[in-house]
Amino acid sequence: MDQFIEAIASLAARAGIDKDQARAAVAAPKERDRADLSLPCFRWAKALGKAPNQIAEDVAAAFEPDGLLASVEAVGPFVNVKLDRGAFTKFALDAIDENYGKSEEGVGATVVIDYGSPNIAKPLLFHHLRSAVIGQALCNVHRWAGYKVVGINFLGDLGTAFGKLMVGIEKWGEPTTVAEYNRIYVNASNFCKENEGAMDAARAWAKRLEEGDETALRHWTNARKLSLAEFDTVYEWLGIKHDVVDGEKQYLDAGHAVVVELLNEGTAKESDGGIVIELSKKLKAFLIRKNDGASLYQTRDLAAARDRMERYDFAKMLYVVDIAQEFYFNQLFAALAKMGHAWADRCKHVKFGQVLVDGSRAKTREGGGTTLESVLQEGVRRARAIIEEKNPEIEGKEAIAKSVGTAAVIYCDLGFPTTKNIDFKWDEILRFDGRTGPYLQYVHASACGILRKGGGVTKFDASLLAGEHEWNLVRRLAEFPDSVQRACRDCEPSHVSNFLYDLAREFRSYHTAGSRDASLRVIVDDDALKAARLGLVDGVRQTLKIGLTLLGIDPLERM
Ligand code: ARG
Repeated sequence: MDQFIEAIASLAARAGIDKDQARAAVAAPKERDRADLSLPCFRWAKALGKAPNQIAEDVAAAFEPDGLLASVEAVGPFVNVKLDRGAFTKFALDAIDENYGKSEEGVGATVVIDYGSPNIAKPLLFHHLRSAVIGQALCNVHRWAGYKVVGINFLGDLGTAFGKLMVGIEKWGEPTTVAEYNRIYVNASNFCKENEGAMDAARAWAKRLEEGDETALRHWTNARKLSLAEFDTVYEWLGIKHDVVDGEKQYLDAGHAVVVELLNEGTAKESDGGIVIELSKKLKAFLIRKNDGASLYQTRDLAAARDRMERYDFAKMLYVVDIAQEFYFNQLFAALAKMGHAWADRCKHVKFGQVLVDGSRAKTREGGGTTLESVLQEGVRRARAIIEEKNPEIEGKEAIAKSVGTAAVIYCDLGFPTTKNIDFKWDEILRFDGRTGPYLQYVHASACGILRKGGGVTKFDASLLAGEHEWNLVRRLAEFPDSVQRACRDCEPSHVSNFLYDLAREFRSYHTAGSRDASLRVIVDDDALKAARLGLVDGVRQTLKIGLTLLGIDPLERM
């Protein structure tokens, strides 16, 4: 696309417009039948001392056929451009290979992404899907855009809950599964509620853990190890792979040190027996030490943020966390700024909405809640039933069912803007004909099928792809790199998932047109035309494959 924009910018320059400004102003108009690209001329009226309509005419008058632009026309204050379709198609398809959409945009910059980050000794529940899947997609798109990415799983492995847990472990024994930990924790909390002595013991245990007591540490180490092992099974299933596993506990000492430092330099002060950083009227005071001397989630986050800056010198740090923590992160970033860290503005909270099942929140009820693993299992079970009905003869049914069920769950998370709530309905997310993961997989598999049937790709003449429906598809394909860049810029994987859905639909209508009109089929008698159309189908296949992989969805070749 760049060379076409460049050609328009050159015309604009001949009419006296600043070339860089012109390049940036070229855009695709909404109504595509009028123009492929368009240049609005309002903004130069003052600089050039001319009416925008006149400027548009001057730009159009500078046009001479150049093999890239087919026509340039002034329409009011706009310069409407039609591209040379043959040239564009050739460039667009030549650009597609297994690295399509990759860019150098982020080269030299590091992005830290804090995602997943569950609390240990509790099972992963359904809502934990979101941070994990959104975070992984953000890692993937940033890597594709050339950034160095450090994905961190920041475990919640410290807090008052551990005191109670240890009371339970001492009473009922060491658990061997995360579910057991959870049960023991729930029983112990109830026990502590009714029993003041037990509550004191829980406080003492929490303190012993902070002080490094051997028994407390042993219980903690077991809980952490076992939890991670169970988390990893689910993460692996979802294609989630962190680069680093950190946890709150490792920032205990650094957190205490931060408090002392801030007190000494006067950034923090005492308030009601605790220590706070006063932020603003809106953001209020940020508590960093409780009145019993204990540190907090926020204290550890301050220390961790600093440590990450030191370790990675990040250009961007993303916290992929529930929208419920929005106020907290606003406070955290303001506190970092108040501590004098100019890099505080490189931190961003990537917030996501809740998971609603039949309209109500699938949330952590103590001791209950739907586990993420059980949701994935159910997805696979349902996918298996669909495949059994639609294509019982297919080879590798079990693997396909697993892919399809998982794709359904992942896409229902990534298919819409992250801040929206997920309205989870099994029947919707497993449809093979809507905005779903299985639909995209199906379209990808059907492109693979056409290529198998047509004998694969050979050298072809792109200028033969002259039909209107082909042009639409080619234009769409050319937008993929931009969708990846926008996903990085806005921290919004749905830019890619929306693109894929639009591409898939466009391709379906291209493909089905052939069943109404034989001359529009991909596999036609004319060998040259057939080769060109197969080339186009392969471009679609390749683009879908890359896009799906970026989202963490398995691009099946048959289903
Ligand atoms: N463990 C926290 C929770 O479950 C999320 C941690 C997010 N990351 C962070 N650095 N605060 O709510």
